[in-house]
Amino acid sequence: METSGFRYLDGQLHCDGMPVSEIADEYGTPLFLYSKETLLRRLAAFREAFSDHDPLICFSVKSLANISILRMMAGAGCGFDIVSGGELYRVLQAGGQPSKTVFAGVGKSRPEIEFALRHNVHMFNVESESEMRLIRRVADELGCRADVAIRVNPDVDAQTHEKTTTGKKENKFGIDIGSARRLAIETKEFSSVVLRGLHVHLGSPIYDTTPYERGLAKIAEFRGQLAEEGIEIDTVNLGGGYCMSYTGEQVPGPASYAEAMAPGLNEMGTDLILEPGRHVAAPAGVFIVRTLHRKTTGDGKTFVIADGAMNDLLRPALYGAFHRIWPAYSSDGMPEVVRPDDDNPGGGDTEKVDIVGPVCESSDCMAKDRAIPRVNEGDLLAIFDTGAYGYTMSSNYNGRPRAAEVLVGANGPVLIARRETYNDLVVREELTAI
Ligand code: LLP
Repeated sequence: METSGFRYLDGQLHCDGMPVSEIADEYGTPLFLYSKETLLRRLAAFREAFSDHDPLICFSVKSLANISILRMMAGAGCGFDIVSGGELYRVLQAGGQPSKTVFAGVGKSRPEIEFALRHNVHMFNVESESEMRLIRRVADELGCRADVAIRVNPDVDAQTHEKTTTGKKENKFGIDIGSARRLAIETKEFSSVVLRGLHVHLGSPIYDTTPYERGLAKIAEFRGQLAEEGIEIDTVNLGGGYCMSYTGEQVPGPASYAEAMAPGLNEMGTDLILEPGRHVAAPAGVFIVRTLHRKTTGDGKTFVIADGAMNDLLRPALYGAFHRIWPAYSSDGMPEVVRPDDDNPGGGDTEKVDIVGPVCESSDCMAKDRAIPRVNEGDLLAIFDTGAYGYTMSSNYNGRPRAAEVLVGANGPVLIARRETYNDLVVREELTAI
């Protein structure tokens, strides 16, 4: 399976050769567990697919942001895609290079812009005229030069979940081509801001290569129009959105995207930036939870109540996202493909349950009517493909300390974020009488 760092051996799930149950016993649950080998292998495969274009790969920090992992990605040659001053801080802490870091986001504040300019980030992906003016003012004040790309909203439908689509005209992201053209011409007058790039990010995940081709075609045409105005664009950034398979079914891999984009890229011959997050990180992480209770209603519906919840893994509650879930002990292993509507994946003994967490919300449900082998109190469950947008979207809702993060490398598991304590929940607060 795509999550091949995670395999069933002798009836139990292993991460890079280590039994997950041993790691869970040592570090406790709920636990985000990552496979270093999988992360690096997927990154290498992504890079290889685009090797003809020698891209700068800016790993998307919002997908998986632990500083040990960012350090590893930087060591593997990555730059970073950031969306806030906080993410830049993470990159710096991790020893990543600001000169390989691109800064996107519709709402960059003055302090964030100043922070990024002082550290000389590679490029700002500018998302409005107002932001361009602010970057110019701050750069003038600091007496430095800002290299920028315009994030274009190409009005391409990437057919993603409505909450994760970004490249349609009704979305808040980017600048429509007509306005971008006016802004580009205006920017020529600025000495402290140099327009070098065009950026597009269409949404996430995108299961088809066509939206990229369309986005690229619009960028290429726009670049031609700018050239007529004497504006030379030397960098094209195609963003992220490259899919992976949450069900285990076959989906387009990096080679398909690269092949679809090759003609457009070859014709332009610019420098290329890509910002993958999910494709690299999701299959490299598993969220491990322990069953606290089983509860069967009078109607015969069974809830498996786990110690992990929507505060740890928000995707199912927020998007209705599907993640494969299977017990960590399973004599027959796990079927490669599990679809949302599968009544009996793998064909073995299963029961239909709702897998829920302790949070006081009915939406705290990680899987509904899901057929899995029977689990009892104390049994471990693995929630797959949670390396991206898992821990980074977690919160303390319901007074729940954030989970631990463990990375398995060649020398076994390493704790890369300790589990939060109760004290962590209140440490920034003041106990004042007002
Ligand atoms: N570049 C930009 C400008 C982005 O906004 C994003 C993601 C990426 C790159 C990385 O996209 P990826 O390669 O990971 O698809 N929380 C949602 C995903 C939100 C994505 C936001 N932007 C989820 O859990 O599905």
